[in-house]
Amino acid sequence: MDVERLAGASELFAAIAADGRPITDEVALALGTALRRTHPADLVADALTQARLRERGAAKFSRAAEMFLTRAGLEQASPEIVARHRAARFPGGRVADLCCGIGGDLLALAPGREALAVDLDPVHLWMARHNAAVYGGVVSTCESDVRDVDLGGFDAVFVDPARRSAGGRMRLGDSEPPLEWCFALDRPVAVKAAPGVDRALVPAGWEHEFVAVDRDLKEAVLWSPALATAGARATVLPSGDTLVAADGEPVEVRDPGPWLLDPNPAVTRAGAVAELARRVGAWQIDERIAFLCTSSRVDTPFARTLQVVDSAPWDQKRLPRRLAELDVGAVDIRRRGLAGDVDALHKRLKLRGSRRVTLVMTRVRDRPWGLVCTDPSDTTKGPDRLVGAPS
Ligand SMILES: C[S@@+](CC[C@H](N)C(=O)[O-])C[C@H]1O[C@@H](n2cnc3c(N)ncnc32)[C@H](O)[C@@H]1O
Repeated sequence: MDVERLAGASELFAAIAADGRPITDEVALALGTALRRTHPADLVADALTQARLRERGAAKFSRAAEMFLTRAGLEQASPEIVARHRAARFPGGRVADLCCGIGGDLLALAPGREALAVDLDPVHLWMARHNAAVYGGVVSTCESDVRDVDLGGFDAVFVDPARRSAGGRMRLGDSEPPLEWCFALDRPVAVKAAPGVDRALVPAGWEHEFVAVDRDLKEAVLWSPALATAGARATVLPSGDTLVAADGEPVEVRDPGPWLLDPNPAVTRAGAVAELARRVGAWQIDERIAFLCTSSRVDTPFARTLQVVDSAPWDQKRLPRRLAELDVGAVDIRRRGLAGDVDALHKRLKLRGSRRVTLVMTRVRDRPWGLVCTDPSDTTKGPDRLVGAPS
């Protein structure tokens, strides 16, 4: 793709935008036929692809309509909300974004700083500079292998190594350049990594931050000692609430209570469940399981709060009858520590009631256990409308 030629085709983009419809296959076909009468076919095809990528990009970027994207670049790009959170932890001055891609991180890092963007791919590099400018950043670019760049004089470095190659997704923990290379950089560094990357790979003194948007765990960031503020941390966006895993009094283990907390995946990955329990006065129902219970309702950004309406040892025979008594017509099944075929269970329950509940399959002190819960934040199906709910 000749990205500069494409960027010059503003009348094509204007014509596509003027159509106003979402670009389905059908719409693309009709628009393509019309636009090819006045524009070269390859340019029309590229502009339609770009317009579709911008539509998809709107899920990650508030200004996607002005950006230039490749499919692979968009898929690997950090969402704007995550990039902004990370950039806010960076110092001012001179920063280098190594492996900048289409600039998903750069657009948050560059404004207010002197930024250098480095990538092997010249199309990505062009897009990164353009996209950073859309957000008000002025960026110098360097088409190079990041290993060949002199980082002397930079106040901080961000690296988002590629985790895909031409052959597809790399194995967990593998990347280009490898994590070990990133860890050896002698500048203050933040490295974006897959959320599943093994804690054991992270050097001592580095912070392992897990970032979720609502309950969707997006990524891990590894902060070098100069930028680290904790050992492990869970951050939940958009609020930015953050919880540091810390040592403390052991958390009590006892039978389930009337309220269940289902910790955010960032909290479980960061190993911060015990810290959450201490903060909200919760107990565990099993030593190895991340569910917590409280005796009164607790609302926290770090967990989903559910009201327990039935709690009993797991008994598949009793369950359909109990759910019928509770007027349950639909269940979301949440499993931790208990295996089972969820689809087969759904079929066996033969639900006919009117209420939706969460059926929690778990263990209580290692014993298979079932909890029927409602979500108090969902006002359309409140627990008070459930027959047989404990007061
Ligand atoms: C995961 S993407 C970066 C995504 C970017 N942070 C964003 O949010 O848009 C990785 C990028 O690294 C580049 N890359 C891979 N190996 C490289 C290397 N050795 N030197 C420079 N760039 C490299 C790829 O071309 C790709 O654009």
